[in-house]
Amino acid sequence: MNQPLSNKVALVTGGSRGIGAAICQKLASHGAHVVVNYASSPDAAKKLVEQIVTDGGQAIAIKADMSDPAQVISLFNEAEKSLGKVSILVNNAGTAVPGSLAEITDEDFDKQINLNVRGVFVASREAARRMESGGRIINIGSSLGEAVPMPGLSIYCATKFTIAGLTRGWARDLGPQKITVNCVEPGPIDTESNPADGPQANYQKAVTALGRYGKPEEVASLVAYVASPEASNITGATLRVDGGWGA
Ligand SMILES: NC(=O)c1ccc[n+]([C@@H]2O[C@H](COP(=O)([O-])OP(=O)(O)OC[C@H]3O[C@@H](n4cnc5c(N)ncnc54)[C@H](OP(=O)(O)O)[C@@H]3O)[C@@H](O)[C@H]2O)c1
Repeated sequence: MNQPLSNKVALVTGGSRGIGAAICQKLASHGAHVVVNYASSPDAAKKLVEQIVTDGGQAIAIKADMSDPAQVISLFNEAEKSLGKVSILVNNAGTAVPGSLAEITDEDFDKQINLNVRGVFVASREAARRMESGGRIINIGSSLGEAVPMPGLSIYCATKFTIAGLTRGWARDLGPQKITVNCVEPGPIDTESNPADGPQANYQKAVTALGRYGKPEEVASLVAYVASPEASNITGATLRVDGGWGA
């Protein structure tokens, strides 16, 4: 069967769990050969790779801390050596460390900036240097990259605002190479980092139009579309999959 992503190599950062894992599975089911990046969950990454292979897809797991530029470059080298040139980069790895302005520490500031912004920058620059025409860079932002509806999330929100802005600039930079750059902004999604039965869940459900959390697979479906040849005229866009959070 002719699949939309056959012969494409997709690198998904933070692919071992949550939204990233669903993206890996979806892209593999559309024919991509997937690099599942992880930092500290080798067992989850290994299990996911086994599942993808059982389902008839192709995947490998590669460890790299995306907040360390040297490891990001090694990740690209290893991915290229194992599967060939990366044609789809999904910048998914991200972290949130809540804290109000007076309390936030330098370490918590650096942790979020280094992973959510610098990691995305270094990976995207690597992609820009290596990707061929038709490539895709898909940044996972957040509905918290559009508004700050509660206290204690200023740094996380700032990283996601930044990602949406960088997406636009990089779309301009890479347009001549026929590489698209887009930002997918999930609303509340049921993962270990934001469980649908967690302490903030009722508030988050209430501010969506649909009154519910999204599923990782619903984010993955949009990512798969943006990665496909059908989305070749979409670039510099911010696409929400947020249940109407931003309506
Ligand atoms: N869940 C939500 O409601 C929601 C909403 C909007 C946006 N988002 C965004 O969606 C993305 C994924 O969120 P999630 O909820 O799926 O998170 P999650 O369940 O906490 O999973 C995070 C993933 O990132 C990886 N990771 C963490 N630190 C890493 C590092 N330094 N280097 C490489 N990988 C690293 C983890 O792998 P290891 O376990 O191996 O470290 C894991 O695979 C994030 O960018 C987040 O900001 C989430």
